[in-house]
Amino acid sequence: MAGSVADVWSGASYERIGETYASIHDRIVAALAIGRGTRVLDVACGTGGVALRATRAGATVTGIDISADQLAKARRAANAAGLEMQFDEGDCQELPYAEAEFDAVASAFGAIFASDQERTATELARVCRPTGRLALTAWTSDEWSTANVRAGRTYSEGADPYDWAREAHVRALLGSAFDLEFQTGGWRIEANSATELWELLSTSMPPLRAWLAEQSEEARKHAEQVYLDYLEPGVLERNYFLVLGTRR
Ligand SMILES: C[S@@+](CC[C@H](N)C(=O)[O-])C[C@H]1O[C@@H](n2cnc3c(N)ncnc32)[C@H](O)[C@@H]1O
Repeated sequence: MAGSVADVWSGASYERIGETYASIHDRIVAALAIGRGTRVLDVACGTGGVALRATRAGATVTGIDISADQLAKARRAANAAGLEMQFDEGDCQELPYAEAEFDAVASAFGAIFASDQERTATELARVCRPTGRLALTAWTSDEWSTANVRAGRTYSEGADPYDWAREAHVRALLGSAFDLEFQTGGWRIEANSATELWELLSTSMPPLRAWLAEQSEEARKHAEQVYLDYLEPGVLERNYFLVLGTRR
């Protein structure tokens, strides 16, 4: 991918996709055992789906993301909802927080995109206090990921985000710091047609949008056709992996 990681995640209407994760964000917040004043870190918070919910649940929340564009949208959403929380620009591979600063650490489809998984896992553990909670979601490798490959998209740079949905791999990353539990869930998005759904995905999934912009016309047309065939009749369903942890 050309451009910085922050560039890749900026400029898309990601909030339209973020909204469709509402039930997943609810599930993550429920897993964090939030009470009044629980200090929650939402890692790679995007437009703030988890951060806003955790604040509503009574937590004192910090959201961090590498994209200033995503953070600006999160801040706008928080202001519009009359909620107070802190949003910081930064990289989850090098969190600008003290050891054990948080009672709970969450990341919805966020930390999985960092290229150095070991550093990321170490950072998630470092900032979480003993007995604190962790909740993280990852997409499982599925038919959509196969369609991506058919369209010509592969994760050629950095680590494979789907690794975070493999139990043995996650145990190797986080198992020495957390007692872990694994759950699964489903996500479904529907539109009136494959074309309508493609319009949403191609403009609102930031890495897909960035990748399309780099392709030749021929490659883009090929990819579009692969996706349109796959999305027929206007539905995309995916499974995700929910990693729950209690810090030792
Ligand atoms: C799919 S979005 C998820 C956003 C949000 N957690 C949600 O559930 O809606 C992925 C987010 O990860 C952020 N991100 C990617 N790499 C990152 C990194 N190394 N450090 C911090 N944030 C990162 C992106 O900017 C983007 O906002």
